[in-house]
Amino acid sequence: GSVHRLPLIKVQGVPLRCLIANNFDSISAFRPDPSDILIATYPKAGTTWVQEIVDLLRHDGDEEATRRAPTQERSPFLEIHYPPPIPSGLSRIEKMTPPRVIKTHLPINLVPEGFWENKCKVIYVARNAKDNLVSYYHFEKMTFIQPEPGPWDGYIHKFMNGELAWGSWYNHVKDYWMEREKKNILYLFYEDMQENPRREVERIMHYLDLSLSDDVISRIVELTSFKSMKENPMANYSSMPDIFDQSISPFMRKGVVGDWTNFFTPAQNQLFDADYTKQMKDFDIPFRTNI
Ligand code: PPS
Repeated sequence: GSVHRLPLIKVQGVPLRCLIANNFDSISAFRPDPSDILIATYPKAGTTWVQEIVDLLRHDGDEEATRRAPTQERSPFLEIHYPPPIPSGLSRIEKMTPPRVIKTHLPINLVPEGFWENKCKVIYVARNAKDNLVSYYHFEKMTFIQPEPGPWDGYIHKFMNGELAWGSWYNHVKDYWMEREKKNILYLFYEDMQENPRREVERIMHYLDLSLSDDVISRIVELTSFKSMKENPMANYSSMPDIFDQSISPFMRKGVVGDWTNFFTPAQNQLFDADYTKQMKDFDIPFRTNI
């Protein structure tokens, strides 16, 4: 697997997997349809969860319909380029008829302009920094296509310094937050989804101008629980053994709020909090970890 652990290359100051950086012009030139929906996140913030919810909402809660194909085929990953022969996100998208549901981890300033020009619906999901970091650390251990995470303590520093793939978590959540009203972005929190999944499913439904029955909404909440998705081969990425070794750490790992307390030492936590306060100064983004 180590041959695939390719280095990161910066695009406008943002470190990206080199296969993405090398193809960035074609990614920027992508023209979405106005009906396309973009799901934007920092990696490991709850992307797959929202992808599944949106697909079910658009199929009236029909489980069979959403089991037609794995996540990456139903809802392609805009900027992704894998080692051949795995198809790129763009090549998957171009084969589909709008409206398409597209995933991206790009920071807002790298999102193709066409999404804003065409006033596409954009759903952003943010997850509290410490749990996001812990999830990313485990992910990088099991995926062959990003650099090795290295030791835990150093990983915390890479996260704080914005050196991980897709760059700074802090800039990511702040930049989408600042633009959310002007660009009509639905800004969600992973912790809110944990606290009251039904409420958040309904928010997404209203944002997408859909109206489903209470029964259908209940079924969608059920089908997108962590347990359901972990057991669903079309949602748990078991379809990508070439790039994920889930025996190291499953893609559907824990799915909880507050797992960071099992990894941060008190000293690491103190250092992280001090830096967090600095980096998030002047931003009142309502992250909550006390659930
Ligand atoms: S990726 O690779 O960026 O698309 O990953 P992403 O889907 O954003 O994040 C994966 C984490 O989300 C958790 N997850 C869920 N939590 C609760 N409920 C549901 N249905 C769900 N689906 C995925 C997943 O377990 C990863 O978090 P951790 O903390 O590692 O378990």
